[in-house]
Amino acid sequence: MPTVLITGANRGLGLEFVRSFAADGWRVHACARNVEKAKVVRSMEGDVVCHKLDVTDGLKVASLARELAEEPLDILINNAGVYGPRTGFGETDFQEWGPVLQINTVAPLRMVERFMGMLEKGERKTIVNISSRMGSIACNENGGSYIYRSSKAALNMVTKGLSVDLEAKGFTVISFHPGWVQTDMGGESADIPADASIAGMRKVIAGLSTEDNGKFFNYDGSEIPW
Ligand SMILES: NC(=O)c1ccc[n+]([C@@H]2O[C@H](COP(=O)([O-])OP(=O)(O)OC[C@H]3O[C@@H](n4cnc5c(N)ncnc54)[C@H](OP(=O)(O)O)[C@@H]3O)[C@@H](O)[C@H]2O)c1
Repeated sequence: MPTVLITGANRGLGLEFVRSFAADGWRVHACARNVEKAKVVRSMEGDVVCHKLDVTDGLKVASLARELAEEPLDILINNAGVYGPRTGFGETDFQEWGPVLQINTVAPLRMVERFMGMLEKGERKTIVNISSRMGSIACNENGGSYIYRSSKAALNMVTKGLSVDLEAKGFTVISFHPGWVQTDMGGESADIPADASIAGMRKVIAGLSTEDNGKFFNYDGSEIPW
């Protein structure tokens, strides 16, 4: 069966990704920065292996990549993310900008660079960056949230750059907006439950071809302008 690696797998969309892939018989490498908080993942049925991984810890990322080096990896899902302070113009907490960029923007590229050997061995050669419509420059009509928006806009640029650099190797690299989802980040009044978001994204992922390399998708498969 194919293999997927998911970051931020202990709750929210990451956890739902694990549940969904495991139920379909995939081998799942579920990464969480606090394995104590990943009890649900550790007790999940199926071929699920839980790894302790803070995506901002470059040494740990490199050491996990070395540990798994001989395995093929079909899909990497860079899901771990934070919103940071929910502030408008005039209230920006500049100290918080760097840490949010480290998690949302820097870490996904580091994951791709370190896990490249495994990804090259995989058949599907797919990299999925969980971004946000908030990172679309074209869709920004409300302003505010400078930190989160810029971190996801920069992640979108990482997606685009990877799509160019890895095209010749047959990779498909995409950004996703998962919808406004009922998770800790999205809140209770969000539009859709996590399982609906994951079902939509799984359908899109299953139908991906190299024609889709470098695109920004909504969870329902429609495209979002950068
Ligand atoms: N929910 C929405 O409406 C929505 C909309 C657009 C985009 N997104 C994106 O979707 C992704 C998942 O969000 P979510 O809604 O599931 O959020 P969530 O419920 O807040 O979960 C975030 C996950 O990321 C993990 N994480 C944060 N920093 C990490 C780090 N340094 N290393 C490893 N893991 C880390 C968290 O781990 P801990 O439990 O240890 O904190 C948690 O597992 C994020 O990239 C988010 O930006 C969500």
